[in-house]
Amino acid sequence: MIHYSRTDIDQMDKIFRLNLINSCTGFKSANLLGTKSLNGVSNVAVFSSITHLGSNPPLIGFILRPTTVPRDTYRNIKDTGVFTVNHIYSDIIEDAHHTSAKYPDEVSEFTKTDLEEEFLGDFPAPFVKGAKIRLGCRFLNAYEIKENDTLLLVSAIEHVFIADQDIQQEDGWLKLENANTVAINGLDGYATTSLLDRYAYARPKKV
Ligand SMILES: Cc1cc2nc3c(=O)[nH]c(=O)nc-3n(C[C@H](O)[C@H](O)[C@H](O)COP(=O)(O)O)c2cc1C
Repeated sequence: MIHYSRTDIDQMDKIFRLNLINSCTGFKSANLLGTKSLNGVSNVAVFSSITHLGSNPPLIGFILRPTTVPRDTYRNIKDTGVFTVNHIYSDIIEDAHHTSAKYPDEVSEFTKTDLEEEFLGDFPAPFVKGAKIRLGCRFLNAYEIKENDTLLLVSAIEHVFIADQDIQQEDGWLKLENANTVAINGLDGYATTSLLDRYAYARPKKV
């Protein structure tokens, strides 16, 4: 059995630690966040920290890295109040990963990859064409995480777009596998999933 103590972790090579600590909490969600600047430049970037916060009201949260370098997604969200969440699917993982490259703010990642932007209804932020599950979100609040200078951004889901009938079951549940949604393993690994089972609401055993 391999064991690492806190002292071992602190003394690790930076890249080794980054890979270990980024993968040791399990699979993460894989999403592209779409935003538009006040100057009209679209932005798309990969985020693995988007998580469910609550369903009534429908809230999501994600972690934003320290704003010690320019963060186009964050600036656009603060300026416009809106963004899109687009599930990364198996056909686009290479381009999706490339959106993490640091381009100047006047360069749209949509022009540097084969990813295409699409506008739905009157929602002002760009969606990623072809993504089968997409959300239109409104930013609500940012909370400082003092321990590592990150921010927890809390937002409300205003729109849910599901491309095909076979993704959703009668009770509302989305079978992500049917949308080819992938999961993120660490900081650079992308995995497909295959459903094992679903279970009824768990209640304490009587005996
Ligand atoms: C797999 C992966 C997951 C990432 N997840 C996050 C994340 O959850 N939060 C974050 O702030 N940056 C995350 N990043 C980094 C952003 O994608 C990167 O900083 C990107 O350049 C941000 O673009 P922007 O400056 O246009 O906002 C991730 C990068 C990769 C490769």
